[in-house]
Amino acid sequence: MIVILTGAGISQESGIATFRDSGGLWENERIEDVATPGGFARDPKRVLDFYNARRKQLLSPDRQPNLAHKALVRLERECGEPVLVITQNVDDLHERAGTRDLLHMHGELLKARCTSCRMIRQWEQDMFLEDACPECGKTGTLRPHIVWFEEMPLYMDTIEQALGNCRLFVSIGTSGNVYPAAGFSMRARHSGAHVLELNLEPSQGQSSVFHEGRYGKAGEIVPAWVEEILTPTRDATKYSTAQKKAAPGGAAKSDGRDEPYLL
Ligand code: OAD
Repeated sequence: MIVILTGAGISQESGIATFRDSGGLWENERIEDVATPGGFARDPKRVLDFYNARRKQLLSPDRQPNLAHKALVRLERECGEPVLVITQNVDDLHERAGTRDLLHMHGELLKARCTSCRMIRQWEQDMFLEDACPECGKTGTLRPHIVWFEEMPLYMDTIEQALGNCRLFVSIGTSGNVYPAAGFSMRARHSGAHVLELNLEPSQGQSSVFHEGRYGKAGEIVPAWVEEILTPTRDATKYSTAQKKAAPGGAAKSDGRDEPYLL
């Protein structure tokens, strides 16, 4: 099984701003104000406005899946083994490109959730404080279906299982700043997976985690990497170095550079 973790960098060439690059979303907004339950309690209109603007941007016709999203679809269709894409992104560009096995661990911008009846449904229009939940009819209970800081990411049981079972883990376009996602590569490595980073630049503080890195724009390096692994190579064992499980009490060794790691 191949597990892919994606972050904002994969959607950057589709015109969706990243968070921490220069010009990123967290340069102009404070996380505490727009991406925490406390911020929503203090000023819900501000938070709704923030996500309304992002939703509108995502739905504009010039925001489309790019070559990196499409390459992952090709990988899923052609590689002959299960591929799970775990995305931190709340945009819908992976599914628009055609990815089928996909988990939105940080929620989805085009969905609304009711804090009273727990309804989750597609929501493509602006969201206002006065909106009533279409399911239970209450007002003041709707919020964007986004996982904020201090909240538990979604699908963690499924993700944990996949990380323990993959032979190849690929991190694409994420700075590795936000846990638990930032710990997935180490978790996969600990289970014996080959761990690869595809990013604009090496993510800070993670240099000892990856067996290998390719650096450049996702729209270029992801299709090139997919082409490479779908092409029968001289090295038939490429990326199949994983020893599936660590011995009890010890870390998995997949190459000479592995170091023990305590989770
Ligand atoms: P960041 O903005 O922290 O990191 C984006 C990464 O993408 C950086 O490592 C960039 O170098 C890289 N990058 C930028 N442009 C790229 C391109 N064209 N091709 C390839 N890589 C590129 O975004 P995330 O790591 O996704 O959470 O952020 C993780 C989480 O922090 C988000 O899901 C969000 C945010 O706060 C929540 O809102 C809960």
